[in-house]
Parts: sequence; structure tokens; C-alpha cells
Amino acid sequence: MLASRLSRILGQISKESVIGQTSLTRRRYAGGSFTQYVHSLKNRPFSTTTIDKVHEEGSEQKEKISVTFVNKDGEESLIKVPVGMSMLEAAHENDIELEGACEGSLACSTCHVIVMDMEYYNKLEEPTDEENDMLDLAFGLTETSRLGCQIVAKPELDGLRLALPAATRNFAVDGFVPKPH
Ligand code: FES
Repeated sequence: MLASRLSRILGQISKESVIGQTSLTRRRYAGGSFTQYVHSLKNRPFSTTTIDKVHEEGSEQKEKISVTFVNKDGEESLIKVPVGMSMLEAAHENDIELEGACEGSLACSTCHVIVMDMEYYNKLEEPTDEENDMLDLAFGLTETSRLGCQIVAKPELDGLRLALPAATRNFAVDGFVPKPH
């Protein structure tokens, strides 16, 4: 009787021990799976796409073009202009002397600039009647004159060169003439 009870008790302990080991083994197995799980996460297509998208969006936000302003003394300032920013804003942010008295509301011609290369001039949006009216009042108007507040940076304008109007006379002295059409 006693031996039989003892045997049952030992049997019970043995079962619990096996269950405990199984549980432990499962935990260990789960630990091994975690590595596989992490590995599978790295290879998930949706994960990669998300990262790329964020990266692409970040690139768009940071996209800038190179623009050179040439002042009245012929000195050049190469600046980086974010896509979507006007040349007037870019000039002001970089301490380039371009007045812009009406702050881009097409009520003056003090932001007059001369596009130095016809190839770039042709990439610009057509000037509106309002811009043309203001340009008619600009000093030293040329074939490639535009208002700086109306030129907005876009990828195709990378490499744009703009002369400040006061430089027109100096350029004339130096032999600079905007390329014809
Ligand atoms: Fe006046 Fe450009 S700032 S028209």
C-alpha cells in the first residue's frame, strides 16, 4: 500500500518534471525562433518598401538646385535653392542684393534679374501679363529679363545663372550680352 502510494507520487513528480522540461524546451525553442523572426522581418517586402518610401520622401523634401547669382562687379555667388523656392527668397536667404520691394506681389520691378543662358530662359514658365507690365518698367531690360520673385526653383533649372540688373551695364562694358533667343 505504502509502496503503491509512493510509486504514484514518484510517477506524478516525474510527469511534472517532463512537463516542466517541455515548457522549458518550448521557451528555448521560442528563443531560437526569435532570431528567425527578426531575420524574416528584415526580409519582409512591406518593410523594405516603407523604408524606401520614407527615404524617397526625404529626398524630395531636401532636393535643391544650384543657382549662381552674378553681381554688378561680376562676382559670382553659387547657392543651393530648394525646389519650390523663388529666386527672390533664395537671394534674401543668402544675403544676395536683390531688392524685391513688393515682396513678390508683382507690384514692382526691383527683383529684376537677367537669365544668362537662353537655354534656361526657355525652361521657365511664360511670364504673365502682370510680370511683363512690371518688366517694362525695369531698368536695363534685356531679352532674357525676368522678375526674380516669379522664377521658382525646379529640377530642370539646376545650373541656372542670373545676373543682377545693375550688372547689366558692367557686363555690357565687359562684353556680356545674353545669348540671343
Ligand atoms: Fe516686386 Fe518681384 S518683388 S515684383
